[in-house]
Order: sequence, then structure tokens, then C-alpha cells
Amino acid sequence: CRLKGRGSLVKCLQKVDPFLHRNIGTDVVAAQEERHGCKSLYAVQAEGQEQAERSVLISCHSRTNEKKFLKYISRHGDIKKYFFYESYGLYAVVEFANRESVASLFEGAAIPSVSHESTVPFKSRLLSLRNIGLADSTNQQSGQQCQPQTPIPINELIQRLSKEESIDQQITSLRDVYQLTEENSRLRFLVCSLLKDIAAAYFPECTIKPFGSSVNGFGKLGCDLDMFLDLDGISGRNATMPKSGLSLEYQMKRANSERAVTQSILSVIGECVDQFGPGCVGVQKILNARCPLVRFAHQPSGFQCDLTANNRVAMKSTELLYLYGELDPRVRCLVFTVRCWARAHGITSSIPGAWITNFSLTVMLLFFLQRRSPPIIPTLDHLRDLAGPADKSVIEGNDCTFVSDFSKIQLQSNTETLEQLLCEFFEFYATFAFSRMSINIRKGKEQNKPEVAPLHIQNPFETSLNVSKNVNATQLDRFVALCQESSWLLQQSETNAPRGGSKGKASKPWGLATLLLPSQIAGIKSRKKRRREPASERIKSLLESLKNTSQQKKS
Ligand code: GTP
Ligand code: MG
Repeated sequence: CRLKGRGSLVKCLQKVDPFLHRNIGTDVVAAQEERHGCKSLYAVQAEGQEQAERSVLISCHSRTNEKKFLKYISRHGDIKKYFFYESYGLYAVVEFANRESVASLFEGAAIPSVSHESTVPFKSRLLSLRNIGLADSTNQQSGQQCQPQTPIPINELIQRLSKEESIDQQITSLRDVYQLTEENSRLRFLVCSLLKDIAAAYFPECTIKPFGSSVNGFGKLGCDLDMFLDLDGISGRNATMPKSGLSLEYQMKRANSERAVTQSILSVIGECVDQFGPGCVGVQKILNARCPLVRFAHQPSGFQCDLTANNRVAMKSTELLYLYGELDPRVRCLVFTVRCWARAHGITSSIPGAWITNFSLTVMLLFFLQRRSPPIIPTLDHLRDLAGPADKSVIEGNDCTFVSDFSKIQLQSNTETLEQLLCEFFEFYATFAFSRMSINIRKGKEQNKPEVAPLHIQNPFETSLNVSKNVNATQLDRFVALCQESSWLLQQSETNAPRGGSKGKASKPWGLATLLLPSQIAGIKSRKKRRREPASERIKSLLESLKNTSQQKKS
């Protein structure tokens, strides 16, 4: 057993997932161990890509009859999986058992003729099904169940959380409603695969892989789709030159830097996506960014897409975050909770700016978990020390090596509950010495700040960089003030116990739900005003409670 102390793991899992009490025991522990020990991110990526290659995306009539639809499509081959969803109309994702079925479907597909308009004859696996008797003639519901592709609104989430019986249950419930569904993940791989078909016009052997929150285990329904154009598989690229004798070389265009090559590749692919990519709208080529990218919206899926190339370090960060999320179920629960809390209060934003990013926030949470006693997750240096020869990875001079075999990682038996950890997280950052110290998950210990920046989080792989360089003092102050307030709120008896409404009435927000309410942070939002009222009762009691906690800690 890789994890020390089976008994404590059982207890800890029960706290993380209260539903486990029904069948807690060897099965659950075995299942957890299997999960920890099994699929690497590479395996997940390979499986997702392979399924996507056998899949098509079909725009359907809104009253499509599911049975008739399946009968019609299965004429081309066995269907392994399918689902319907809505995004500016009804769509179906169909995964065939064999790739030949896609070719068969194409044979029967016609290029539409539109009056007054001409079409670019670029065939993709995004198809439309014309009404050939598959729609129900009545106005009744047609029976297809649509899979949700967007998260529930925050008000609904608050209501749902208020009905839970413990803060631990609230945290697991938040993760359950926010995390990507299996269908949403499949759709993400399919969009990458459709994009690959376009990029293959230039680079037939390329692949496009999702990275970031689409695959790192921390993705929320509705999050953007980060894509990586991988040209490493192009034959001859990694071939070694013979030491002597004649050899043939490909003649290739040259540019004066790798960055210039990436920019030119993304420029042409961006142009191709814009001109020929069905459903790709608002294409922007952002080639002068530190990491050049092509940004666009993929309308049929509703995804906001960022296509990058030659971005191997980001791929490694994704792999690292995935690994940490797999090691202990509390990691994902807390990442979802803290990300949701930060978003509810405008600490993070979808617009780039001086805000803390989700990536920075996740690294902050990982660091906090490394600082627990005993630590919940190991340091990156420890993961590097466990690496085998095959794990060695140096990208642009940066050591990105860490272990890929999860079974080599020994975890310590920390049994803290989610509630304790959430409260401690807020405490930790409410009092963190941001002015002097840098957050460092490689060492798992704060380090002296190497440069002046309000918030310094060492980039785990490009160690001379600060991942939160963009964050200004105002945004950091807001984060700290919110941590103070949330920690205080969680310690109030009226916040941290269920307040069930009477029969038929909605439950009143409590626990985690209270932390997501905008009204609770009115004071933080208008900090200037608050400063003019230093004697406010609320702040006095907040300070009092913080003093008490620090005294308790000392004693
Ligand atoms: P959301 O899109 O906000 O849900 O989260 P995300 O994790 O996908 O973040 P984002 O789209 O901003 O970035 C995609 C991925 O790029 C991240 O998961 C990281 O792996 C990587 N990344 C983003 N920002 C940084 C950074 O500042 N430094 C490093 N090393 N990697 C980063
Ligand atoms: Mg992202």
C-alpha cells in the first residue's frame, strides 16, 4: 500500500466524501488507490484523441426524434456513444465504433448550395442534418435529453449548497456541480480534433491537444479551451544524423528564432481557421504575446478557444496540476471551492488585467497544502527526486522533470477535513508575509522575494519568472481582506451551522454558501469607504476575532 495508514485514509475519505460511509471499506480504498495509481495525463489525452477521431458533430433540427436519428446514423456503422446538447441550436456528438463509419457518412454528405452565396469546399466533421423526416411533426418534446454544457448560475449554487448538512458536503457538492462532465470533456477533444483537420492542411502529421483546465482536473463547465498544436510527431524531426557518410536532409525555410517560427505557423493556421474553419468566429491572432496564440470562438460547441504552438512548459504545468489533483481527492474539492469563491468576489476575472489568475490561485492552494502538518501533497523537488530516467524533461533549458509513476509517491496521513482546510487556507493567506516572501511549490517553503512585486509566486518550471507578475497591490489587498473576512465568517456560529428553512421554504444560506454571497463582502468592495469608518462594529469584531485566533494559535 503506497499510502501510509489505511485506517486514517478511510476516515479521511469519509470526511471528504460523506457518501462514502455507505460502502466505505476495502472497495473504496482499493478504488482510490487504483485511481491514484492508474491513468497518466498522457493516457487520458491519448484516449480522448482516439475517441474524437472516430466522432462527428451534427447540427440537428430542434425537434429531432432521437430514435429515428439513431436509426439513420447507424446505417453508417455501430455507434459507441452519442449525446445531444444545446448551443445556438441542437447538436449531437456521435462516436462511431470505427473510423470507416465517418468516411461512409461523408460519402453520403452533400455540399449545400445556398442562393446568392458561395461555399468554400472545405469538408469537416461538423455536419448538418437536413430535415429528412427525422423531426417530430408535433410541437411535443422530442425525447432527446440534452447534456448541460454550462455551469448552474451562482444563485442556484448557493441554494443547493444551503440544503447540505455539513460544510464538507457543501464543498464536495460544489465540485460535483462545477466539474467538467464526461460529455463536455469529449466535446473538448472533438473540437481539438476538428481543428487538427484544418491545421493538417499545412501539417498533415500534426496533433492538437487540449491543455490547461480542460484536462488538468480543475476545469469548470464553461471554462476556455486551451489547445496546443503539436508538431513533434512530424517524421524526420527527431531523427539523428549519422556520424559519417551521406545523408539526405529536408530542405526547409529558416527563421531567426523558434519564436518567429511559432508566430509564422500560428499566423497561417489562424488565417486558415478564419477562412475555412466552420463555426469558428471572431478569430484574433495575438502573435506578439509572451506566448503567441490564436483566439476564437467555436460557435457549435460554445467554447472560447486559445490555440498555441510550441508551448511545452504549459503542457508540463498541466501535467503537474493533474498529478496533484489525482494524489488526494481534497485537492480538487478545494481548488474548485477557492476558484468559485474568488470568482464570486471578482478576485479573478475572465478579462485579462491586474487580477490574480486561476493558475496563480491554484498554485497558492497547492503551496498551502504542502505547508500543512503533515503535508497533504509533496513538493515539486521531491517529485523530481522520484523521477526515473524516462521522466527526464528539459525544455528550453528549464528542468521540468518529475515522476510520472504515481505509485512511487508516498503520501503522509493527514486527516484534516475539508472544512478545517478551507478555514485554514483563509487564515494562512490572511496573515501571509506577502511583502517579504515568495510562494514556492518547488521547495514547499516560502522563500525571500527575489524581486519587487506585490505578489510573488515562483513559476514552477521557469524558476526565474513570477506567475503573478501582473497582480497589483490593490488586487492583492482585496484578496487578503477577503481571506480575513471569510476566515472570520467561518468561525461565527450563525454562519457555520445549517439553517434549514421550515417545510416548503428555501433553506437560508449558511457555511460555504454565506462565503459566496455578494452582500457579505460589501465592506471589501468599497474599501475606501470602509477606511473612513474605522470604528464600524463589523470591522471591530473582525479584528477582535483575528486577535483571538492568533492568541489561540500561540498558546
Ligand atoms: P481557466 O482557463 O481559468 O479555467 O484555467 P487554466 O488553468 O486553463 O488557465 P489558463 O487558461 O490561463 O492557462 C492554461 C494553462 O497554461 C494553465 O493551466 C497552465 O498550465 C499554463 N499557464 C497559465 N499561466 C501560466 C503562467 O503564468 N506560468 C506557467 N508556467 N504556466 C501558465
Ligand atoms: Mg484555460
